[in-house]
Amino acid sequence: MSIENLKKTAAEKAVEQVESGMVLGLGHGSTARYVVAKIGELWQAGTLTDIVAVPTSQATAAQAQEYGIPLAALDEQPVIDLAIDGADEVDPQLNLIKGLGGALLREKMVESAAKRFIVVVDGSKPVEKLGTRGPLPVEVTQFGWKVQARWLETLGCTPAIRGGEAQPYVTDNGNYILDCAFPNGIDNPAELGATLQNRVGVVEHGLFLGMASEVIIAQADGLRFMK
Ligand code: A5P
Repeated sequence: MSIENLKKTAAEKAVEQVESGMVLGLGHGSTARYVVAKIGELWQAGTLTDIVAVPTSQATAAQAQEYGIPLAALDEQPVIDLAIDGADEVDPQLNLIKGLGGALLREKMVESAAKRFIVVVDGSKPVEKLGTRGPLPVEVTQFGWKVQARWLETLGCTPAIRGGEAQPYVTDNGNYILDCAFPNGIDNPAELGATLQNRVGVVEHGLFLGMASEVIIAQADGLRFMK
């Protein structure tokens, strides 16, 4: 099975948990796109009714609008029944790294507001230790971003400005992202998360700790569930 088929399989399995009448959180990224597509299909078929969705990015909002899925802002729907999103890494405790797609701030806001948060991934995402598969994205203000990059280095990582210094990637919130590579992974995610959270000028980071209720992993030999 191709990686795209695995993403689709995990996404569609999670959508089985969506019920009419729910307030949904819609994630961002290539796996989340399959979630939105399936919900859109069910909505258009009339199988799902009376749903409203809070998108975690402008791109997701645009995709949902193509299907006519009713959307709301988090301000209007501050309690989400079910959020479904992808992830970049999942550890055995269901802690995540997210944000390689650039939407980490809104994802964390929406998914923190969710009663249930289902993560959908293909078999390349589970890791023993966070930070061993890829970098940790850290969203910082444009103002003074190099100060943050130098400070992040003191935490033992190598930060790279996403998009390159000549034309940095700008998030939906108008910020930059520093992708922080930890040579041996992240030893203590909780401590690192707290340190990042306390830093003025760091807007958000991609450690999603203790947030996922369930992870659906699609592998070549079938589906695996972590709870
Ligand atoms: C978006 O900002 C991310 O958090 C994505 O959820 C994550 O990068 C997974 O994306 P893919 O499903 O495209 O791998």
